Amino acid sequence: MDRIVVRGGRRLTGEVTLSGSKNSTLALMAAALLTDDEVVLRNVPRVRDVDGLLAIFEALGAKAGWDPQDSHAVRINASTVCRYEAPYDLVRKMRASFMVLGPLVTRFGQARVSEPGGCAIGVRPIDQHLKGIEALGGKTHLDHGYVEVSGAPLVGVNFSFDITTVNGTQNVMMAATLAKGETVLENAAREPEVVELVEVLRKMGADIEGEGTARIVIRGVERLHGVEHCVAGDRIEAGTLLCAAAVTHGDVWIHGASAETMGATLEKLREIGVEITVQGDSIRARVPNGLHGTHVTTAPYPGFATDMQAQIMALLLVAEGSSVVTEKVFENRFMHVPELQRLGADITLDGRSAHLRGGAKLMGAPVMATDLRASAGLLVAALAAEGETTVHRVYHIDRGYERIEEKLKSLGADIRREG
Ligand code: EPZ
Repeated sequence: MDRIVVRGGRRLTGEVTLSGSKNSTLALMAAALLTDDEVVLRNVPRVRDVDGLLAIFEALGAKAGWDPQDSHAVRINASTVCRYEAPYDLVRKMRASFMVLGPLVTRFGQARVSEPGGCAIGVRPIDQHLKGIEALGGKTHLDHGYVEVSGAPLVGVNFSFDITTVNGTQNVMMAATLAKGETVLENAAREPEVVELVEVLRKMGADIEGEGTARIVIRGVERLHGVEHCVAGDRIEAGTLLCAAAVTHGDVWIHGASAETMGATLEKLREIGVEITVQGDSIRARVPNGLHGTHVTTAPYPGFATDMQAQIMALLLVAEGSSVVTEKVFENRFMHVPELQRLGADITLDGRSAHLRGGAKLMGAPVMATDLRASAGLLVAALAAEGETTVHRVYHIDRGYERIEEKLKSLGADIRREG
């Protein structure tokens, strides 16, 4: 069982290049099921979640794998898909696999996908995915923990999500690309990962408009063709590395970022006292005059990303004054709090809000990673803690960050992987 050991107190300085977006990659891989042609995705992060989805493609009979000529590219050809079941033991390990549902139903007229179940951060229901697929004419049936859907061709419809859901928007939108007629999705998610998916679907021949707004219009087409696409830099990894730089009062440039998709994060960092400089796809973080507390509330894009909540909390622990962090997207996303308290953090939980007393002198200690972004928050705090922190169960962090300890080490952190 791998663990990461950090000796805090080092200022991070220098430059680092981001990996591609894990969350964009997963949706783009699912889109490959919509065509018989080969789909090539480049700048794909070597993370466990991508391997998890590749395993699902194997179960479906698709040809899918890492490109032998490019270690950060995956090639998928769904022309050989001959099974339509995504099994429980694979879906439970990588719940975003549920996004194969829409493509399978609209392309093959059938799908049997295990309900993904909950995870550490919440129940993670899929009701909106199913409502959207049913609105398109899909006949859903729950069978012993599996969602079975039949009914092709799907038929375009006006559908409004009851709650803004990123993967729900992506799943239903992909199903609509091959449906008969026009589909209008209201209260659609506006995340950059939805926008990137639309850009790629359009390159594949889909007829879609409205991405980045709450109203997306999809006009069904007969077929989609293959595509080669370079995945955008990971905006959450970018935010995580900026927090790591700031918590050490460092001076770091990150390359491969798109600042325009990080508005809320950059604005919050500036509010805390981080000097942010943007030059093209590079962003610099330094701390000229100290850090001070503030209030943060997570929200769907363009609000402050819930995936950045643990990391900004860790930064606020060393800022002067008190702060309040409110998690409005997921119901159980404070699993990092008891672990941060082991480092000496003064945090009081009150429902969906965490009240922080800043200026803490954090002391290194053994801590346990519980989920992907919680472990990122623990690493950020460990960089500022006096002495040694050991983060256990780092398989959580390997789901969404490629070689994070090497990136931090290249910036001067005293960090190593053991086990
Ligand atoms: C995506 O998850 C991301 N994952 C998450 O990142 C991210 O935290 C989340 O969006 C929010 O930004 C991927 O893209 C693979 P949601 P998703 O559906 O789409 C409720 C990470 O760390 N909901 O937008 O599953 C849900 O319970 C991961 O990289 C329903 O009620 O999140 C939540 O409260 C973690 N019914 C809210 O919507 C549904 O059918 C938003 O969740 C679907 C969702």
